[in-house]
Amino acid sequence: MDRSNPRTTIGVFDSGMGGLTVLKSLLELVPNANYLYFGDTARLPYGSKSAETVAKYALGATDFLEKQGANLLVIACNTATALAFVQIAQAAHVPVVGVVEPGAEHAASASKKRKVVVIGTEATVNSHAYRKALEARGVQAREKACPLFVPLVEEGWAEHSVTEQVARIYLDEAFSDGFESADVLVLGCTHYPLIKSVLDRMTMPGVEIVDSAESTAQVVAEKLRTGKSAPETDNRTPAVGAPTLKFFATDSVEKFRKLGAKFLGRPIDFVQHVDLKE
Ligand code: DGL
Repeated sequence: MDRSNPRTTIGVFDSGMGGLTVLKSLLELVPNANYLYFGDTARLPYGSKSAETVAKYALGATDFLEKQGANLLVIACNTATALAFVQIAQAAHVPVVGVVEPGAEHAASASKKRKVVVIGTEATVNSHAYRKALEARGVQAREKACPLFVPLVEEGWAEHSVTEQVARIYLDEAFSDGFESADVLVLGCTHYPLIKSVLDRMTMPGVEIVDSAESTAQVVAEKLRTGKSAPETDNRTPAVGAPTLKFFATDSVEKFRKLGAKFLGRPIDFVQHVDLKE
């Protein structure tokens, strides 16, 4: 990143704590920024809700982050990106990056067989956002909803034998009916990076796992480096130094602090409770 640039304030939005996997990747690639993270934990999960409901919640959250000073928005939630990206981008006054296009772009460039399997929530899969993005790049896609993964991860069972058994069933179903030869597996949900090693063990050798959290962080880093859709920056803050982090949640801040630390891979000291009126 160009250290002569003033700092950017990046607002990261998710339905809960899962989007902290995206923030974790952002902190690795874009450490020199101010971060505002909003987790809509009171209304989690988004993955089983309708497009209208998810869009309404997502617009409230993005408006909140803009009011807090975000000059770039990252929609870390795959479900919110898949169902409401267009509405969010239209309503926002700052550049918006979602997770679907970066994940699809990375998967398309990684797949030699031009066949990709995408796993995500029911809502993400039903929207076919990933399939459309991959087909637009000349890649065939099989989408598979894996609704049990989110509760398993939240239970802290990332390495549990039950998670392995569930993964075996889901992946056998996904890599079938002409998709046995798919050579890329896209993690199309914020929670799945936490079970990446289980999924890695359960897939055939030669299948590359594409984590849309990492792909999104790469896109953000590239945008800031090249100045493409560079947001207006906050000149009051110095360009160098450690990132600043502020966390907001709509449900228990204590739960967010404890569980969130697992997703983020570092302790979370303070979380501010927010009550977004409908
Ligand atoms: N953040 C959601 C996603 O990435 C998973 C959790 C939920 O269903 O809200 O799709």
